[in-house]
Amino acid sequence: MWNNNSLAGQRVLVTAGASGIGLEIVRRFSAAGARVFVCDVQPASLEQLARELPDVGRCIADVSKEEDVARLFDAVDRELGGLDVLVNNAGVAGPTGGVETLSLADWEHTLAVNVTGQFLCVRLAVPRLRKGRNPSIVNLSSAAGHLGMPGRSPYSASKWAVVGFTKTLALELGKDGIRVNAILPGAVDGPRIRAVISAKAEALGKPLEEVARDYTAQSALGRMVTATDIANMVLFASSDLAASVTGQELVVDGHTQALS
Ligand SMILES: NC(=O)c1ccc[n+]([C@@H]2O[C@H](COP(=O)([O-])OP(=O)(O)OC[C@H]3O[C@@H](n4cnc5c(N)ncnc54)[C@H](O)[C@@H]3O)[C@@H](O)[C@H]2O)c1
Repeated sequence: MWNNNSLAGQRVLVTAGASGIGLEIVRRFSAAGARVFVCDVQPASLEQLARELPDVGRCIADVSKEEDVARLFDAVDRELGGLDVLVNNAGVAGPTGGVETLSLADWEHTLAVNVTGQFLCVRLAVPRLRKGRNPSIVNLSSAAGHLGMPGRSPYSASKWAVVGFTKTLALELGKDGIRVNAILPGAVDGPRIRAVISAKAEALGKPLEEVARDYTAQSALGRMVTATDIANMVLFASSDLAASVTGQELVVDGHTQALS
């Protein structure tokens, strides 16, 4: 269990926090005594979150839309009265296929959510974080943000962009005491990765089990990681245990050597 109390009372915004890895991050921050606000695009998942964690503030917002993000930060101001931690978790898997088969619309949508979404949130978060306590930003990248990933070029390009954005922000904001780190998860066991594996199996005409085996074979630990593993790293990066950690690629992938 988490026994560092530096997150108690911290005001935390988690984008796309209603399901998947984001939800686990929200659970862990709440258990550590933080005050958490969440946005998502799925009303049903937000309602489920309200039943599980009624104290967590929430609103519908698509991070790739400037007007939604402005509305989100108005809600954060109202409900939290400021901000200490921004977790840029929202990200889509994007299309699967060889580069010549991909549409411009799919490329643009992947970049819009995964990169522009982080920019829009950071732009409004920074003036608030400057007034925060142990302020930091955590950006979700991916193992595909430091390795190539055949068949997933828009996703990989977007997650490399997140790393460049993170390192630049760390340099710009260090003088204000704002730390900025990227988390690079390997394949996280859950519904999203199962959908990605089945899309890949279909694109390659291979059996599902074979593609799934390839995914785990590339990690030194021989298995996928969990959403809790990722949430643990997010909490560490946001806490005073990481007071001197900024501009880093925090890789949580069981030492994955390649992505198939
Ligand atoms: N799952 C993995 O294996 C994996 C691996 C590496 C990195 N990541 C990254 O971790 C983050 C979370 O991944 P996940 O697997 O939990 O995702 P997911 O696909 O399970 O989606 C989580 C939530 O994101 C919300 N969402 C989607 N588009 C949104 C938007 N435009 N604005 C706001 N919310 C939106 C969805 O409604 C959903 O509730 C992403 O940035 C992803 O790229 C995931």
